[in-house]
Amino acid sequence: MKVLVTGSAGVPGSDVLRLLEARGIPCVGTDSPELDLTDAESVYRLVEDAAPDAIIHCAGYTSADRAESLPEHCAALNGMGTLTVARAAVRVGAKMLYLSTPQVFPGTGDTPYGVSAAYGPHNVFGMSKVQGEDAVRSLLTRYFIVRADWIYGSGRGDFLRPMLQEAREKKVLRLASDQVCSPTYAADLAKVLVDLVATEKYGIWHARNEGFYSRAEFGSLIMKKTGTPCRILPVLTADLPGSPRRPLNLRFTGELPPGIDPMPSVEDALTRCVSDLDLYT
Ligand SMILES: NC(=O)c1ccc[n+]([C@@H]2O[C@H](COP(=O)([O-])OP(=O)(O)OC[C@H]3O[C@@H](n4cnc5c(N)ncnc54)[C@H](OP(=O)(O)O)[C@@H]3O)[C@@H](O)[C@H]2O)c1
Repeated sequence: MKVLVTGSAGVPGSDVLRLLEARGIPCVGTDSPELDLTDAESVYRLVEDAAPDAIIHCAGYTSADRAESLPEHCAALNGMGTLTVARAAVRVGAKMLYLSTPQVFPGTGDTPYGVSAAYGPHNVFGMSKVQGEDAVRSLLTRYFIVRADWIYGSGRGDFLRPMLQEAREKKVLRLASDQVCSPTYAADLAKVLVDLVATEKYGIWHARNEGFYSRAEFGSLIMKKTGTPCRILPVLTADLPGSPRRPLNLRFTGELPPGIDPMPSVEDALTRCVSDLDLYT
């Protein structure tokens, strides 16, 4: 099996590519500027040249906050861009794994959303990911949609490094106490994606490290694990500058098929991230 990874310089994509290489699975990574999701013909050419048996599609528009003022751009990448990758998968006969998000749900209440819960995105980013999921489901039968969120790791664009730098400078960080999710270590997510893509366990799955944390609680855990002297001040999202349109309830079930290892706890994952990568001293 040969695997093409899009977004291979990004946070989850770089760990996926690294793991494929470590396992000796034939693979190729692509990212911007070589890959341009808005240029369909160049995507088709790139995929046809790579001739993969499977595509793990991690490239896309990722800033939920900035997406509010750039809805067309966000939809062009996550909606149309994913449709283009799905079309390319059909052309070469590849299966496709699409990395999505629980932000496709309304994000209200406090119970976790299951894989078959109804869509109802709260913001532009969530809408664009619904478009991406629809594109994959309508064109392919051999697909995996894997939802994950608050992904952190070692790739370009990771949120831990800027957060720690800000923490060292300001000594106090205001973080939302009412946004709750399962922060997920990209290396753990990569293992699920690479294991899953080798199977025929098609459908929609939910991958997350175990446990629910508010942004403020996860921030406190990060400060503790990295020994960063910074106080976390829990605040309501509505009191944060810019009032980001964020769904508050990002709790979702962890649902993986039999044969795929369950994911470790959030605390275990963060401990490994901090010690493995030696990023934060
Ligand atoms: N991070 C999260 O917590 C999270 C949550 C939910 C879902 N996801 C999904 O996971 C995937 C990876 O997201 P990420 O947040 O981890 O982002 P990331 O690390 O920034 O990875 C996304 C990659 O896509 C690339 N890209 C941007 N515009 C492109 C274009 N026009 N053509 C080709 N590639 C382009 C980016 O390149 P540049 O850096 O050069 O722009 C980047 O390398 C996305 O599908 C995202 O929706 C992530």
